[in-house]
Amino acid sequence: MLPRTTTERTCSGLRKCTLTAGLCGLLLITTMSTSDANPSADPETIEQRVTALLSQMTLAEKIGQMNQVNASDDDLSDHLREAIEAGRVGSVLNQVDFDTVNELQRIAVQESRLGIPLLVGRDVIHGFKTVMPIPLGQAASWNPDIVREGARVAAREAATSGINWTFAPMIDISRDARWGRIAESLGEDPYLASELAVAMVEGFQGEDLAEIGTIAATAKHFAGYGAAESGRDYATTNIPENELRNVYLPPFKAAVDAGVLTLMASFSDLNGVPATGNEFLMRQVLRDEWDFDGFVVSDWDSVRQLAVHGLTENDRESVYEAVTAGVDMEMAGESYLYNLEDLVAKGRIDVAIIDVMVANILRAKFRLGLFENPFTDPTDLPAIAHDHALQTARKAATQSAVLLKNDANVLPLSMDKLRSIAIIGPLADAPYEQLGTWIFDGDRDLSVTPLSAIRALVGDRIDIRYLPAMENSRSKATKAFDEASVIAQDADVVLLFLGEESILSGEAHSRADINLPGDQAELVRVVRETGKPVVAVIQAGRPLTLTNIVDKVDAILFAWHPGTMGGPAIADLLFGVESPSGKLPVTFPRMVGQIPIYYSQKNTGKPPSPETIVHIDDIDAHAPQLSLGMTAFHLDAGYTPLYAFGHGLSYTEFDYRDVAVNANEIRMGETVTISARLKNAGDVGAAEVVQLYVRDLVGNVTRPVRELKGFRRVHLEPGESVTVDFELHTDDLAFYGRDMQLMTEPGQFHAWIGGSSETQLRTEFRVVEND
Ligand code: BGC
Repeated sequence: MLPRTTTERTCSGLRKCTLTAGLCGLLLITTMSTSDANPSADPETIEQRVTALLSQMTLAEKIGQMNQVNASDDDLSDHLREAIEAGRVGSVLNQVDFDTVNELQRIAVQESRLGIPLLVGRDVIHGFKTVMPIPLGQAASWNPDIVREGARVAAREAATSGINWTFAPMIDISRDARWGRIAESLGEDPYLASELAVAMVEGFQGEDLAEIGTIAATAKHFAGYGAAESGRDYATTNIPENELRNVYLPPFKAAVDAGVLTLMASFSDLNGVPATGNEFLMRQVLRDEWDFDGFVVSDWDSVRQLAVHGLTENDRESVYEAVTAGVDMEMAGESYLYNLEDLVAKGRIDVAIIDVMVANILRAKFRLGLFENPFTDPTDLPAIAHDHALQTARKAATQSAVLLKNDANVLPLSMDKLRSIAIIGPLADAPYEQLGTWIFDGDRDLSVTPLSAIRALVGDRIDIRYLPAMENSRSKATKAFDEASVIAQDADVVLLFLGEESILSGEAHSRADINLPGDQAELVRVVRETGKPVVAVIQAGRPLTLTNIVDKVDAILFAWHPGTMGGPAIADLLFGVESPSGKLPVTFPRMVGQIPIYYSQKNTGKPPSPETIVHIDDIDAHAPQLSLGMTAFHLDAGYTPLYAFGHGLSYTEFDYRDVAVNANEIRMGETVTISARLKNAGDVGAAEVVQLYVRDLVGNVTRPVRELKGFRRVHLEPGESVTVDFELHTDDLAFYGRDMQLMTEPGQFHAWIGGSSETQLRTEFRVVEND
């Protein structure tokens, strides 16, 4: 018999523990030390270890691996200890005290029969203690590098608590700003979301999952959750398969290709079959088509909710549906634990199915190196909120903010010319609110608010007067507005800090009205009346309808919920230390009734144009027209958004020209290069996100009027020019057609390059069949 491997490590400052890893888990690694050959990295070895371990497990132990339990209590309950010891728990979530996590792991590896370590999960969505901008904000950076680094920082900080698995990234395509979880998403576009999803997975998981400081990622929520009817969280989704494949699934496919270890099934009902019981999604697409070999976790209690949806009669039938559909692990609920054995005994579920599911979970544990290294020593990792973490958060916040408008170049503010500034509004000094949704562990004491950052930046050079004017963003009390007016009157410029407090977005926090909440619009009106220049800095978890204030302010800097370092980032942007470079990852509607509005719409048979639309106020009451344009528009909103996808201004002027292709015609399998000349024609150095859009003019299913196919962040000094080129292979033009097969069709394509989805600089090329 092979000897057992013993690892001795200091698990905490208080206790020294010797870990003797369980027998089976280590049978196959005993001949190598983890330092010279990492068994967690070799797929063949892992498969052998999985098989060996599985062969020794009882059915009850297998089902135990499929069970994830909430362990958020400060004190370890006897119930939990016993369950882990008995092999009834494969994973815990929501325990972040590393001593407690180490104790849980100790029970698992030393006291359970097979010594299988635990997966320790947590929602580390956009940072742990140091908080990055909300994911939707990070998406506005269009910068995979900063997104990757933000996730890496979060992973390292989370790992100090013993967390080895995060339930992120959330990559649900979101085209409805009413939905509270749009904040957690990477926006409306499959290409942008896919690129950033990959970056996040890489950031969390690193190059070697077994390394200290990397954690498993979860691509969630599989799938279609973002299409909830009317943006009401958890509501039904109806997504035709073709649209599902072309729009909602690509980010998941990209995450799977990038090696994401887990996926989470969505709460939502997809075309009549809730995702948690959806075999098409989890078996056909995920396993058969994509060859995913990680595991799928349910959402919180979503297995038992199959009965609430009305798909099943009771827990046992819900378990049958979820297992049959391919949910490998149940988060909370414990219905697998109490029903699966019986379903096997009755011959309804084959134990071979369970073996595959448990193998998926064990494979993940081996890849994470948990059998070698289940314990956490925080001193192995960088300190929480160390300088690099804070600088990453600051850079991410800086690159995320989008300058929506800037009339008469009111921004940047001049340190030399200004004498006094009025800072007004509920979100100027709100350390918690600036962190946004999903910040279980976010440390508000680390937050640097805009007010304190501006004060620090200007010192005593400019007189600053501050008034929150509202208790919070929802407040309807206007009694402080007179004072706001007086303060504004005395200032050279007014900075209005508006938006949504953090509780107004996130899970179950949907809104039907997405105007600025409370009486903020009235505050804008009052301040505007002073005649002073007004700059609105908006922090929010979603796009807002800003139509009612847009003409009453001179500039709008949309900062999302910018996280820990939001203050310094905003201060730098306001004073021109940095030039804004964020671009919208989601369309801003003029009014809520336009939703869903997104740039990649279909043309329709009656496409609108400025000439064909009529405004409701212009209908002649005395000679009513019978026909009002006969195109696809709203009488009261037209057809354009307030701000388009990809929009974002800078303090410099970027001049695009010479959009061209290197070949007018390419064959299948070839590549076309599309390029443009970009010049910084202004007088400050700045970054621009150059965007490439394509339209496939004719398809066997209709194609969007534009689709993002490439983007690049470029920094140019004043006067500097560069040629930016994008290579497109014919595979990059592929889409799912009527028969649900991915294919590129021959035909004519238009291509645009520019600084937003509204760019008009166009070229074209043709794809022809090979002879
Ligand atoms: C959310 C998931 C989250 C889980 C665990 C659920 O309510 O939908 O996204 O990961 O809770 O906290």
